[in-house]
Amino acid sequence: MAPDGGDLENVLVTEREVWQDGPPHELFRRMRRECPVHWTERISEYPEEPGYWSVTTADDIHTVSRDWQTYSSERGGVTAVSAVFPLELVRAMFIGMDPPKHDRIKQLFQAGFTPRRIAAHEEAIRAIVVDVLDGLEGRGTCDLVTDVAQPVVSRVIGSFMGIPPEDDAVWANLMNATLGASDPDLAPQGIEGVIENDVPQIFERCRRMVAERRENPTDDLTSVLVHAEVDGQRLEEHEIVMGFFLLVAAGNDSTKATYCSGMLALMEHPDQRRILLEDPSLMPSAVEESLRMFPAFAHFRRTATGDAELHGRRIREGDKVVMWYVSSNRDESRYADPDRFDVRRNPEHQAFGAGGRHFCLGTALARLELRILFEETLARFPGMELAGTPTVVESAFLNQLKTLPVRLTP
Ligand code: HEM
Repeated sequence: MAPDGGDLENVLVTEREVWQDGPPHELFRRMRRECPVHWTERISEYPEEPGYWSVTTADDIHTVSRDWQTYSSERGGVTAVSAVFPLELVRAMFIGMDPPKHDRIKQLFQAGFTPRRIAAHEEAIRAIVVDVLDGLEGRGTCDLVTDVAQPVVSRVIGSFMGIPPEDDAVWANLMNATLGASDPDLAPQGIEGVIENDVPQIFERCRRMVAERRENPTDDLTSVLVHAEVDGQRLEEHEIVMGFFLLVAAGNDSTKATYCSGMLALMEHPDQRRILLEDPSLMPSAVEESLRMFPAFAHFRRTATGDAELHGRRIREGDKVVMWYVSSNRDESRYADPDRFDVRRNPEHQAFGAGGRHFCLGTALARLELRILFEETLARFPGMELAGTPTVVESAFLNQLKTLPVRLTP
């Protein structure tokens, strides 16, 4: 490990110790300057896994993200570590497909996720947030991750998918365990436990929902998957289940992560909170700044389909190429004073991807949820304070707080 001084060449970027306190920003700063496309030899926890390239600047990530012919999502999985999910299951989600199939499946959902269509959900989402905040009545403290963020995001994506509210908590636990499999609290039985217990449970629960919709079509997104036709053919069972998994997982984790990190930043920077309280029209700008500084996914990954050159480095066919959004969003060639949290900045960023085919489907929904969450939380608890030390999820993929204890009214 060499955040400063030491040998950058031999750094192993995804090692657990490196991420103990969240993303290693100092290491990425050095990489951007000294070795912007960097080779990591191995992943110690998974000796079987090959090494990978780290791409750290916004320009290079933009290049990789847009060139899906050279940098495939289908060939080898979409995260640095491939061990958690069998490749066959990753490829059954459209995030793990290349065009043309990717585009055809994504298109089934795109019309429902435009900013206009999503705006129609504002009242319903606000009602969910207000209801969850009402539940804090009479309490002096709470945990913002588990008491506010989790129930809100679960109910929002649950309502899109047709999940009954009483199942929200079960789905949240399944998603947290599978995506956060490297964290001992989220997945107490480790990756083996996730593969043996959680993944089969996801399949079983999802199969039941699919069977119900085959019998009685509904107007939720699960029904869209069940009845979809791509090139005249219905999706296969495992493609329906994994399509469901993708939407629930993406909706569950991401918004929760950025909301909590954004709230923490506002508590740590009372001057910024004051600016926002005095001028609520800055809310969308504060949302973008939170997305920039705290992108919910630290990285996504591609696999080279042939030999290529990137920033002077030779990428070989089959090499893993990891795009570090936690780095590119603090690229000093794009942002002045990139580590400063500034609610007036209103930046462009790569939290949702870098403009390629896999650009986040849920951007409009995530932005709306985040704005409402910030608005309602700040209106009710303008003086919220930290009431303990927050902890982070142990992961080089999820950039997320695990606990955020707060005092609601000082
Ligand atoms: C703060 C919130 C969110 C962030 C930071 C985020 C980020 C991302 C990123 C980085 C990607 C992959 C980009 C790539 O590999 O090129 C992605 C893809 C995706 N996101 Fe989001 N996301 C968020 C919220 C949501 C929500 C609420 C949904 C709801 C359904 C969603 C659905 C998806 C889907 C389906 C994909 C796959 C798109 C594809 O492969 O074409 N996301 N998101």
